[in-house]
Amino acid sequence: MSNQQKHHQNNKKTLLNNQLSLFRQVCVIGLGLIGASLAQAIKDNGLSARLVAVDRHAPSIAEAIQQQLLDTGSARLSDVVGGSDLIIIAVPVQAVQAVFADIKQAMDDGQLATDCIITDVCSTKVNIIDAANAVFGSLPVGLVPAHPIAGAENSGYHARRANLFVNHSVIICELPTTSDVAIAKQRLLWEAVGATVMTMAADHHDAILAHTSHLPHLLAFNLVEQLASHDDNLDMFRYAAGGFRDFTRIAASDPKMWHDIFFANQSAIVSALDEYGVYLQTMRQLIIDKDSTALMGILGRAQAARRHFGHMLASTPYTDTSTMSASYIITPSNTVYGTIAIPGDKSISHRSIMLGSLATGITHVTGFLEGEDALATLQAFRDMGVTIEGPDNGKLTIHGVGMNGLKPSKTPLYMGNSGTSMRLLSGILAAQPFDSVLTGDTSLSKRPMERVAAPLRAMGAVIQSTGHSGTAPLSITGRDKIGKPLQGIDYELPVASAQIKSCLLLAGLWSEGTTTIAQPEVSRDHTERMLSAFGYPVTVDGNRISVTGGGTLTGGDIAVPADISSAAFFMVAAAISQGSELTLTQVGINPTRTGVIDILRLMQADITLSNETHVGGEPVADIMIRSSNLVGIEIPEHLVPLAIDEFPVLFIAASCAQGRTVLTGAKELRVKESDRIAVMAEGLQTLGIDCTVTDDGLIIEGKGSEDKGVASESGDINNSHPVFGGGQITSHHDHRIAMSFAVASLRASTQITIEGVETVNTSFPGFAELANQIGMSIQVDSASA
Ligand code: S3P
Repeated sequence: MSNQQKHHQNNKKTLLNNQLSLFRQVCVIGLGLIGASLAQAIKDNGLSARLVAVDRHAPSIAEAIQQQLLDTGSARLSDVVGGSDLIIIAVPVQAVQAVFADIKQAMDDGQLATDCIITDVCSTKVNIIDAANAVFGSLPVGLVPAHPIAGAENSGYHARRANLFVNHSVIICELPTTSDVAIAKQRLLWEAVGATVMTMAADHHDAILAHTSHLPHLLAFNLVEQLASHDDNLDMFRYAAGGFRDFTRIAASDPKMWHDIFFANQSAIVSALDEYGVYLQTMRQLIIDKDSTALMGILGRAQAARRHFGHMLASTPYTDTSTMSASYIITPSNTVYGTIAIPGDKSISHRSIMLGSLATGITHVTGFLEGEDALATLQAFRDMGVTIEGPDNGKLTIHGVGMNGLKPSKTPLYMGNSGTSMRLLSGILAAQPFDSVLTGDTSLSKRPMERVAAPLRAMGAVIQSTGHSGTAPLSITGRDKIGKPLQGIDYELPVASAQIKSCLLLAGLWSEGTTTIAQPEVSRDHTERMLSAFGYPVTVDGNRISVTGGGTLTGGDIAVPADISSAAFFMVAAAISQGSELTLTQVGINPTRTGVIDILRLMQADITLSNETHVGGEPVADIMIRSSNLVGIEIPEHLVPLAIDEFPVLFIAASCAQGRTVLTGAKELRVKESDRIAVMAEGLQTLGIDCTVTDDGLIIEGKGSEDKGVASESGDINNSHPVFGGGQITSHHDHRIAMSFAVASLRASTQITIEGVETVNTSFPGFAELANQIGMSIQVDSASA
């Protein structure tokens, strides 16, 4: 059940428990789809002691009384309205003024209290307020104009649905003249019928709706008219396929209603149409000029924005984790075998978009990771006006705009689940002339952002982390308001974080003077490498990395290697299972990322590297890993930043090792996509592993046993006994937790179910398919919630 549905249920329970209704008598004027649906929802939720209605269509009234929806009803307001404390006007916009006149009359006659709450459900709001002013002389204290953004294909009383508003938005206009009680009760009403209440000024509402609803309807009617007026219109309609059908579906709605709305919201619609005309002319000209780059830019941006808007509004990652609907159901298997290619490196994919966009010239990327996190970065640069073609099978063409070519995004930049996007982009945006806002999904909005905001401020940035505790949304003020550039800084990183380092180095590209970052331990150096590859001088002196502002980047080709963090799942899979041999081709083995290999080797894993070469400034190799009997170790702290993302799956390896494994100095794990120490410990304990959480790490009592450690006659390592029980694991919205426990199934006695695996797409799309290809048995159940 969604939070909203729960909220809805709770409201309902509270009302019922109190044995009190919210209203004494609700009078609904107009029993069309919206009016009747709201009446039904009020009835079903027990929100009013009495329910009456006014409608000119007598059969609807009669039927509603007979069905016990209404206590009474009439074609005339004065017959039934007496004693109502809420009036809901659900008639066409143009008819509202006449209804107000009837209501005023009822007030003058003493049938209605003057503070009676009056609301409406019309699609325009300014004209409702104007109508009320015209009739009452001033606005009644009970007037709360409202607009539920809900509808259905069918109209009329019979089409009503009590759940029409569940999970839909309702916009209410809180007028300064309205009493607090009226506003509060309106909110309660809408929330009780399942809607999400938003508030908006009436003129803003009308301008927004003109663009999002009225203009599309007008265009749909217009296109049908355009086709119908052709001489060969029969042929036109006969061959009109999906595009026409989809685009014009809404032209089947009620012409009278739209006629009224177009007049009621005249000025906002006219300005939306004018803007539309300008855009249309631009497209027309690009086609005439055969300007392929600009046209692709518009089409690509629009396609991505179409998808992006929905997610941004829902504040969820591209794959919706709020519903948590997908699970892995994993049957234990023993062996993994084969040669596979792992998807592209996430960190390098992010940076390829950023530097490719800021470079002059064209950058071709291959091996780009089409996971949700890197796609969030891609979308952000499209939002800032960069033309990016693809991704097409990992291939991208980025038309760089140069160091000063980014344009302000018209909307907040939505980073989804991606901490790397948000932190690195803050460095870039702090240096831009324009203001920016960065938002993320629920999980990202809980992660610490002051770690980048504070040093950026020391460089002269104006940046606010506007969330509850140093968290997103981030609001960044443009340099044109501040009037001077950022200043270089000499900064000692409090934690070995490549994200903070990269953020500050990127800001340093536009800063006056030199920016030097000192790191306490080595962290991944992809930013430094890619800056150099793009011709930007970077100085590395021991643990100090420096850039001087004012340089430029030159576009080129980037081949993204396979992601060692994704490869790690399969490395551990092969190491812990019996008779396994797996080759992972052309995986990035940048020495700042190979902590997982070092740690597994210390645990006596059997790992061989071959075909070592360089692609795009990064070393790569084929990694072969065979079954082995792992032993528990004390993990050297200097390896922690070099394996920071691999600990969840290393904990699985440690559980299968003989003896104790101790991790210390890894507090950073607590601020990843989840608290990876707590969440992994919880899951391990569910599967029967003895482990102890410490402030900065975890102690795991491995269940690998000595006597099982001998090679069998065939030469296989005999590590087949189960160390994990079966059970149900929650991923806590964390992709790496989900994949780690999937690997555990290779040593599990019975089935493991992992809930909430949608986030796997942030870093490793196709994980389950690849795992099954090498012998695991993961069933993806997308309908289990
Ligand atoms: C990343 C750096 C690491 C890592 C993250 C990607 C990067 O974060 O956990 O998945 O691309 O720079 P920290 O630098 O904050 O440790």
